[in-house]
Amino acid sequence: MTSTLLRGRTLSFLRWPEAIDDHTAWRYEEDGGLLIRDGKIVAAGAYAQVEKQAGEGVRKIDHRPHLLLPGFIDAHVHFPQMQVIASYGAELLDWLNTYTFPEETKFANAQHGRRIARLFLDEMVRHGTTTVAAYCSVHKASAEAFFAESHDRNMLNIAGKVMMDRNAPAGVLDTPQSGYDDTKALIAEWHGKGRQLYAITPRFAITSSPEQLEMSGALCREHPDLHMQTHLSENHAEIAFTQQLYPQARDYTDVYEQYGLLGKRSLFGHCIHLSEREADALSDSGSVAVFCPTSNLFLGSGLFDYQRFRRRDKPLRIAAATDVGGGTNYSMLRTMDEGYKVIALNGEKLNPLQSFWQLTRGNAEALSVAEKVGTLDECTDADITVLDARATPAMRLRMETVETLAEELFLLQTLGDDRAVREVYVAGRPAKSDLIGG
Ligand code: GUN
Ligand code: ZN
Repeated sequence: MTSTLLRGRTLSFLRWPEAIDDHTAWRYEEDGGLLIRDGKIVAAGAYAQVEKQAGEGVRKIDHRPHLLLPGFIDAHVHFPQMQVIASYGAELLDWLNTYTFPEETKFANAQHGRRIARLFLDEMVRHGTTTVAAYCSVHKASAEAFFAESHDRNMLNIAGKVMMDRNAPAGVLDTPQSGYDDTKALIAEWHGKGRQLYAITPRFAITSSPEQLEMSGALCREHPDLHMQTHLSENHAEIAFTQQLYPQARDYTDVYEQYGLLGKRSLFGHCIHLSEREADALSDSGSVAVFCPTSNLFLGSGLFDYQRFRRRDKPLRIAAATDVGGGTNYSMLRTMDEGYKVIALNGEKLNPLQSFWQLTRGNAEALSVAEKVGTLDECTDADITVLDARATPAMRLRMETVETLAEELFLLQTLGDDRAVREVYVAGRPAKSDLIGG
């Protein structure tokens, strides 16, 4: 088996950076090397040291002066919404009814699902994202299409068919029993196949009957190693409708709590309007709140209070995500740029080291996959993104005045997008240059 030796400026995080000069929180090599064998990083460090371990016949790829980072992770995205993104003029519930549910009915057609899954994963790779937690449509075929495409590319992805049995058009409804049966069959077929991971996915309380949430809880009990993903506290009208549908619940979070859906592998999209009790419940259970800044701005949903959630006595575990098609960009760089602005509107700042921690190791920890991805540590999977801070004329000009790594990262976040992603490695294989049109 031939091995590959990458050379470039390597950056990987050890923990959350408390401040911009908290240098012990990350490992940066100005002339770094990554030795890759069988899809894994087998040696990482100073290039001169790593090269000594490379042996004969190693394929050398020199990415200098670019940065080598762990592949980005998107913790919440809807692959069937590629033709929903950029839909004008509605808040959440109208947006779902007007654009999203009709679009998702098309995924009853397996061929359509396969085409969009292929284009979606192309787009992820083009933007430097190597792992996602994805919602499929209600149709079992849409999840099969997603996993087949992901498995073909040997990507580590988490996904699930949404379960939804009310308050939506017939073409996107299942039943508590069919949702359960389809989920069981998909778990049996896909969970743990290669790098594929299944997430139990009740869409949200409005589109699931009590019987369906009961079944979702049963699935979580039967498969405690699986992720669970849903939406929580995104929009005021959504919260009010949920209270009407579940009048016995103390609050929105309590709906999910009562059905046993909170836990360390539970991912809750949005979490914008949480009460202190709800935040405590998420914290106590180790659940994850997923920050979706471009979506929250686009749909006018509200400002996620990232720093307060981190600092509270009972802190929240936080992930960041695009939430395409409510989100407006596939890029995690664009996402963290908008995230920075949301946090600024809350009177706080997120420094660039913290941002890049979030979209690599931070998201990997939130998704409980940091043993495999999210760092450049030895023995982890070789999912790597190569970034060029001079990718456009405006970036090149601004780079003339940049003196520090932190400034370069902030420039990448503020001005960068897919053009700044020069190459992406998925399990050690060049994946971006492999796409048609590179
Ligand atoms: N809540 C329930 N479904 C969705 C969805 O598809 N997108 C967003 N942003 N919120 C939701
Ligand atoms: Zn969503």
